[in-house]
Amino acid sequence: MNTLTRTSDLNLLLKQAEALLENEHDEIANMANLSSLIFNSIENLNWAGFYIYKDRELVLGPFQGLPACVRLQLHKGVCGTAAAEHRTLNVPNVHVFEGHVACDSASNSEVVVPVIINDEIYGVLDIDSPDYGRFDEDLVSFFEQIVEIYKKASF
Ligand code: SME
Repeated sequence: MNTLTRTSDLNLLLKQAEALLENEHDEIANMANLSSLIFNSIENLNWAGFYIYKDRELVLGPFQGLPACVRLQLHKGVCGTAAAEHRTLNVPNVHVFEGHVACDSASNSEVVVPVIINDEIYGVLDIDSPDYGRFDEDLVSFFEQIVEIYKKASF
């Protein structure tokens, strides 16, 4: 697949995401449908889902993939760091990331996008792949736009 084709595929997926969430503001339902859309549309993933910030930790939310760690500490691992620093992390090799939390030994690369509402952490979108360096700029930007669609529909 060439880049142009892939970019238009990602744009089409964004349109599908908007359509899926249209007229629906339920926070959990929207996370569930977005996890499924990502997991079933992007190749070579082994996990896609959300953690929700509650009582000063990240708690497992709707996801697709194998059962995962339920509670993650802020500042620890990829999710905890993205949440604490309010920034997207693209980690091409999770095994060299300080404090990485290995929920599924199949994961080798990971992207985490924080969901920030009113300057406060609400949760994270976490995507894992068995490939090293699976995620390029286009995919990271795609996941960030998915989070924007989530926020617009749910809040
Ligand atoms: N690897 C993550 C933990 C969550 S799982 O990948 C689903 C981390 O280091 O925060």
